[in-house]
Order: sequence, then C-alpha cells, then structure tokens
Amino acid sequence: MAARGTTTDYAGLFDPEWYLQTYLNSISGQPAEGDLMQFSMDRYCKIFQSGEVKGRQLLDIGTGPSVHSIITASRHVDDVYLSDFAAQNRKVLIDWWKSDKTLIEKITEYVLKQETSSETVVERQTAMKGKVRAVLPIDVTMSIPLGSGSDVTQFDIITSSLCLEAAALTIDQYRTNAANVASLLKVGGHFILNGVLEQTWYRVGESKFACVWLSKEDIESTFVSCGFDIKQFDVVKFKSEDEAYSDFHGYFVMHAIKI
Ligand SMILES: C[S@@+](CC[C@H](N)C(=O)[O-])C[C@H]1O[C@@H](n2cnc3c(N)ncnc32)[C@H](O)[C@@H]1O
Repeated sequence: MAARGTTTDYAGLFDPEWYLQTYLNSISGQPAEGDLMQFSMDRYCKIFQSGEVKGRQLLDIGTGPSVHSIITASRHVDDVYLSDFAAQNRKVLIDWWKSDKTLIEKITEYVLKQETSSETVVERQTAMKGKVRAVLPIDVTMSIPLGSGSDVTQFDIITSSLCLEAAALTIDQYRTNAANVASLLKVGGHFILNGVLEQTWYRVGESKFACVWLSKEDIESTFVSCGFDIKQFDVVKFKSEDEAYSDFHGYFVMHAIKI
C-alpha cells in the first residue's frame, strides 16, 4: 500500500501535459531536481556513441509521455518499441508518432549539440518516428510484461528511465519487476537504466506518486541476482533544498549486459 498522501494510480492521476511542462521543458528540467536530465542525456550519448551498444530491436520501458530515451539510441538500432502502463501517456506518444508534431524540442536540441550533429530537431524527430514500430501497453509487475501485445518477445537493447522505482513500493517488488524486465532481454543484450536513489515520492500535478526507497547497493544487487554484468554505474549525489517535487537523494545511469 502507498504511504499516506501518496498514490500509485497511474491510469487515473498521471497528467502527461503537467509532467512534460514541469520536468521536460528544457535540459535543466525542474531546477529543484539538479541536472538529472542533462546527466542522463550525456550518459546515454556516451554509451550509444561508444559503438558497442547496437542491435536490431530496442524496447524503452515506461516511456511516459516523452521520447528523450531514444534521441540518440534510435540511431543505433533498426526498430524501436515504446511502452507505457498509462493509456494517456501512450496516446501522447502515438499522437507524436503519427503526426508532424514535435515533443521535448529543447532536450532534442541539447542532445544534437552533444552529438555534434547538424540535423534540426524536426529532422531528428522524423528519423526517430521512422524507427518506431509500436507503442505498447506494459506492466512490469507481470511475469509477461507485454502480455500478448507484441510479436517481439525478446529485445537486443532495453532502456528505461525513472520507471522501475515508480512501479514498486517494496524492494521485493522491485526485484520481481527487474526479473520480469530481464526476461524481455536477449542473452548478451544491453540494459540501460536511468533512475533515482532514495526517493519515496515525486509530484505530478496535485498528486504525489509513491516509489520504493532504493540505495545504489539495492539496485546493483538486484541486477546481479537477475543475471546481469554491470559495466557502468554512474551516480550523482544530490539533495534538493526544495522538496516540492520529490525527495530523492541522487540519480544514476547503469549500463549492464545480460549474461
Ligand atoms: C516518472 S515516469 C517516467 C517517464 C519517462 N520514462 C521519463 O523518464 O520521464 C514513470 C512512468 O512509469 C510508468 N509506470 C508506472 N507503473 C508501471 C508499470 N507497472 N509498468 C510499466 N510502466 C509503469 C508510468 O505510467 C510513467 O509513465
């Protein structure tokens, strides 16, 4: 059960527009959250531009209403599958995919600069859309998280940003979710995880969404026990003075390979 005053009602209470405006309107995101977005985009760029992380099919888990996880990643794979639990987030993604609309323009601009790419935001997002094959419903608490909704059952690369801690209230649930996610990755496949440390809640509009409190060691031991070799685990310790948006004490990007 979620702590008093918090919720886990993603289907009913997660407001995609508020989330995009508040956290993803610029590369600085919400100033109360430090440089979380810049840090994760820099790490994603580095990991994918190393040339070691490539494959045919990539699944992004818990994509939310944003496509920042695939700005660089989509250049290194043939097919991209986006996924989320909440229908309203999937709708934002489908509206973007099936139209000329752009999303997260400022973040895309920043990533293009980091890549030293001469593409415009529209050109890059058009290329990203060209790689997307589906926007899938997913529930990482289920042993078959994609249900029967996907023809592809195992992927070469999985990315996930700020989702797994949000989909669990206990460490046991986190470990089960991690094992469920691991089942979607091929042996030898790459898993790139962006998350926060020691967070118990974060804000979306008037709602405080509950999360499981996790240390770096909790996350490392979870993924080692799920059969991963952790290649890289970069952490920034950060404690906000202003706890209006969340109570995390750091953020990380992990790159692991399923063995
Ligand atoms: C904090 S948002 C992260 C969104 C985006 N990936 C980002 O980095 O900004 C958490 C996301 O996890 C999704 N989520 C919550 N419970 C889930 C579950 N059981 N299975 C899959 N996704 C879930 C929510 O719908 C939401 O989009």
